[in-house]
Order: sequence, then C-alpha cells, then structure tokens
Amino acid sequence: MPMEIRRLLRNKPGIWDLPELPDIGGPTSLEGEIQISQQESALAIGAKKGWYGVNGATGLLQAALLALVKPKQSVLMPRNIHKCIINACLLGDMNPVLFDLPFLEDRGHFVPPNISWFKSVLQAIEKENVEISAVVLTNPFYQGYAVDLKPFITLLHEKNWPVLIDEAHGAYFSSNADDSLPESGLQAGADLVVHSLHKSANGLVQTAALWWQGNLVDPDQIERSIVILQTTSPSALLLASCEAAIAELTSLQGKQKLKKIISKARELNIQLRQEGLPLLENQDPLKLILHTASIGINGMEADSWLISKGMIAELPEPGTITFCLGFAIQRGLTKVMKNYWDELLSSNLERKTFPPFTKPNFPLITILGTSCLSAFIADTVKVPLEDSIGRISSDLISPYPPGIPILFPGELLDQNRIDWMIEQRNFWPTQIPSEIKVIS
Ligand SMILES: Cc1ncc(COP(=O)(O)O)c(C=O)c1O
Repeated sequence: MPMEIRRLLRNKPGIWDLPELPDIGGPTSLEGEIQISQQESALAIGAKKGWYGVNGATGLLQAALLALVKPKQSVLMPRNIHKCIINACLLGDMNPVLFDLPFLEDRGHFVPPNISWFKSVLQAIEKENVEISAVVLTNPFYQGYAVDLKPFITLLHEKNWPVLIDEAHGAYFSSNADDSLPESGLQAGADLVVHSLHKSANGLVQTAALWWQGNLVDPDQIERSIVILQTTSPSALLLASCEAAIAELTSLQGKQKLKKIISKARELNIQLRQEGLPLLENQDPLKLILHTASIGINGMEADSWLISKGMIAELPEPGTITFCLGFAIQRGLTKVMKNYWDELLSSNLERKTFPPFTKPNFPLITILGTSCLSAFIADTVKVPLEDSIGRISSDLISPYPPGIPILFPGELLDQNRIDWMIEQRNFWPTQIPSEIKVIS
C-alpha cells in the first residue's frame, strides 16, 4: 500500500470516513478536492480527464459503455469479455457483437488476436453489414497476455469507432516504469481506458479509474453515466486510495520502486524456470502462469491444495494457476514456490493425461438473433443442458474467476455449444449448472 494510505489507516479509526463535504466533493462534482485531484492524476497519466471509481473497474466500464452506446445499437467486443460488460449491455439494451479469438489448446486459454485476425473480423462485420457504435478491447488478458494495441486502434479510428480499453489488469503499464512493459491503452491512443486499481496497482479493493482523451467521445456524457451508476456517498478512503495508487504509477519515486519490482519479478521467473517449474510465456512480468496440466494436475485442485498450505493464487483454471505478484517486494519467494512445487509433485492429487483443451466452436463473429435484454427478461423455462438444442439462452453463465461468460443471454444453443458446455462442466462443476433458463 502507498505510504499515505498506511499513515491514514494508522490514525484514529474512522477519521478518514468522510461524506461528500463541500470542500471535498466527489468524482462528478464541479469543484472540490476530488475534482482537482482527478484532474492532476489525469494530466500525470497522460489523459485529458479522469474519474475515480469506488465500484471497481466494473462500475466505470459500465458507465463508459452506457455513454458510448445507445439502446439497440451494436458494440463490438472479444468473445472473452468480462461479464460486467455484458451486464452493461443488459442495462443499456445494447447488442454485443462478439468476435472469436485464437485459443491455445495446451492450457485452455484464449490469447489476443494478431492484426490480420482482427482485419478478418472487421471484414466479417462489413459483410454482415452491422453498424458498430463502439468497440471494447481487453488488454492485457487476465493471465497477462498483451498485444501492441496501436495498430488495432488505428484501424478502428479509421472507421470513426470510439475505442474503450478494459485495462483492468494493466493499470501499471501506464507507469512506463520499464521499457519492457506493454504499452498502455492511453499511449496507444484509445478514447477511454479503465483501470482496476486494486487489481493492477496498489489501490484498496473496489478502487478504479476511467481516463478520457481524443475527440470521439463527449466527456459530459461519461459524467452523466457515472452519476447514474455511482453511489451518492463515495467512500473518501477509497477516493484517497485512488489518488495515492495513481501517484505511485506516475511519480518518479513510484516508478523507481516499480522498476525494481519488475526486475525482481523477472529474476523470479527465470529462477523458477531453472528450478523446473513450468511457467508459460506472457507479457505481464507481475503475472506468473504455472502450467499444472503439464504434470497432469488440474489447476483448480492444485489451487485448493495450495490454499490449504497458505499460498493464494489469483486465478485457478483447469490447466493453469496464475499468480499475481503485486507491488510488494517478495523476499525468498523462489524458495517458497520451489518447495510448494516439490510438495505438489509428490502430493496424492489425482494425475491424469490432459487431452488438448477443446477450442469452443464459435463463429468468427456472433450477432445475437435476440437482444441480450429481451432474452434476459423473457418468460423462461428451465431445461437440462442436454435438452436445450435450438433454444435461446436467458442465462449469463460465467465461472468466476475469471468472470468470462461461456454463454450469454440471447445466444442460440446448438449441439456444438452444448457439447462444449458439458465438457466445461467437468472442470467447473459447481459453476456451470446442469439446467439452464431458456426462453419459453
Ligand atoms: C478483464 C476484467 N475486466 C474487468 C473486471 C472487473 O474489475 P473489478 O473487480 O475491479 O470490478 C475484471 C475482474 O476480474 C476483469 O478480469
């Protein structure tokens, strides 16, 4: 945690728990300390304007989307979009147009597309004659895969489509603390970028920031949407935490600290590989992906086992566990992780040969025949998954983490999808129900 917040929390309990007093104001007030602080943070991070958020990246992504897309309009997004965006589509009666992504079968992960993949997506959109009002891209992915966004944004801007980047996991990229970091969405020219400050900076849980630049989006519209979704009593502690977290990304001292953390993380990665841990390549040095499937162990089972030992990972999945190193200086972690790894190898967790993870059979673009909202609010009936062929889902089914939907309201269920979902049930038995709600 930043020093200011540690100091604040050492004060008398509750001294920081202030309402929206006139001098302080809030994220959408015309004046007050928060307004000044947001403006300073925006300039420091390289944006024209910014807003702090107290309902995570979720709240600000939803506000941004409501500002960009009107009811019945279409918004382009990748298949692995976070569920909060689909919930925004429900709130604003927007039509998500989903594009498929490359998939790595050895670990069961979607990975970012390259530019030629993306050009094919745009050609498919043109062929289908869909009018797009805005585009949401996720970068980096939860496991730390990232791409150079500039060419993507350039293509989209040629069409005059505003681009919102869900950079929930990459707030610290905007620090430029180290040349090897992927470029942030702001540097790449995105119109709007959302950071989850508790996920990828050192903010308290629920803190986030939304940044605006360019001339395709009206900032007043954003502010109106934030007012709709945000509490009228934002926590002063969380707002202070937003300010302090961003200061760590933008101040010289903070950048120096980050540079050191990144370099330590790289060292750790090299040492762990040398010790034989199967770590997968990614672009975010603070995320370590351990490939448990390579030794025949399910990542979810390995995760429960590790938790029982006191080691908490960020994201367990069937083929991997992703660890988030955070901003603390980790001392002795190579030894700790190597010891756990050795114990895991000799544990009695079930070992099996993992067949390649099946790539879900999605078309390059999916345009829903029934709008998300009308499917969500329709009269429904519950049917066993196996019996849902030809029906339209009313459910949003999304194992958490990672919060990536495997089924959206409004999607047509066909044999391929059901087969894949039944396979997924084996991996997430408590999160994928055996019966789903379909339009009656
Ligand atoms: C890609 C992505 N976007 C947005 C969110 C939402 O972030 P928050 O928890 O800060 O609301 C998450 C959370 O896991 C996420 O993984």
